[in-house]
Amino acid sequence: MPLPLPRVLIDCDPGLDDVVAIAVASAHTSVVGITAVAGNAPLHHTERNARIACDLFGLDTVAVHSGAERPLVAPPRDATHVHGKTGLDGPPQREPSRPPDSRDAIEFLVESIRSEEGLWLIPTGPLTNVALAIRAARDLPGRLAGISFMGGSTSHGNVTATAEYNVWADPEAAAAVLAHGHETLIRMCGLNLTHQVRADPAFVGRLLTSSSEAAQFSGALIHHYRNYHAILVGDPTAGCPLHDPCAVLAVTHPDLFAFERRHVAVECSGSHTRGMTVVDGRGYEDPKARNVSVAMAIDADAALTLISAALTA
Ligand code: RIB
Ligand code: CA
Repeated sequence: MPLPLPRVLIDCDPGLDDVVAIAVASAHTSVVGITAVAGNAPLHHTERNARIACDLFGLDTVAVHSGAERPLVAPPRDATHVHGKTGLDGPPQREPSRPPDSRDAIEFLVESIRSEEGLWLIPTGPLTNVALAIRAARDLPGRLAGISFMGGSTSHGNVTATAEYNVWADPEAAAAVLAHGHETLIRMCGLNLTHQVRADPAFVGRLLTSSSEAAQFSGALIHHYRNYHAILVGDPTAGCPLHDPCAVLAVTHPDLFAFERRHVAVECSGSHTRGMTVVDGRGYEDPKARNVSVAMAIDADAALTLISAALTA
């Protein structure tokens, strides 16, 4: 008897790899709803891109709600230099099939989590919406099966030497969410993990030559992302990390991962370290202080096989 699919809420900032995360969620979860946050691109783009991703991966009846158009405290700082002006550079532009469902993602998150216990919340962008929802309804963390987010790092950053984009874009929100790690299970897929899951030219080529429209669209997105990454690292053959789908796989296929319980804090004031996830690796602090289940390793081949299959569905 197959286990029921996990029921999930996705909070995202599509974003090339957010689209890949939505594809994996469509293949392996029951998506209750999607909320968009400003991040990789301004909110009016990320919200529209989330609807486009839903059209591509059979989620055209799943509600998409737009949320915060700026971080809690930090100024809005997008990543359009990576993801493109609209947030979906690479494939020919396309129009979503339907209008947005609402502009009140926070209310949608609160209502959804209060009406159904045991949902997974999967943020793949800045944690602004999640922090605002918990601020509005402090009972939310205890009602969730968990929060599985892409963000942070146990090692280096990407926007700075120490800070990963999702946490760097809104450190105050990330700090607020991680403070609830004793009320709900928080799984963190940081750069130390996501850089183990890389799409190489062969991976991209298989998508581009697929007969599936969704695969071709995704292949063009990842091709754009890989080109950016190859130039960044000065290696034309380099594979690009597929960050956001890892947060979904941490819910749907946890056996592919190695997790360690750690205390994780977010630096909000350091001149060189603002946005850094400070992951305590000493191992002798009070175990009760450990608020996050940090993903340290993944079976990358298995993950890439699942991702490729989801994109080609
Ligand atoms: O640092 C990687 C993260 O920042 C991913 O979620 C990517 O989509 C961007 O939002
Ligand atoms: Ca993202």
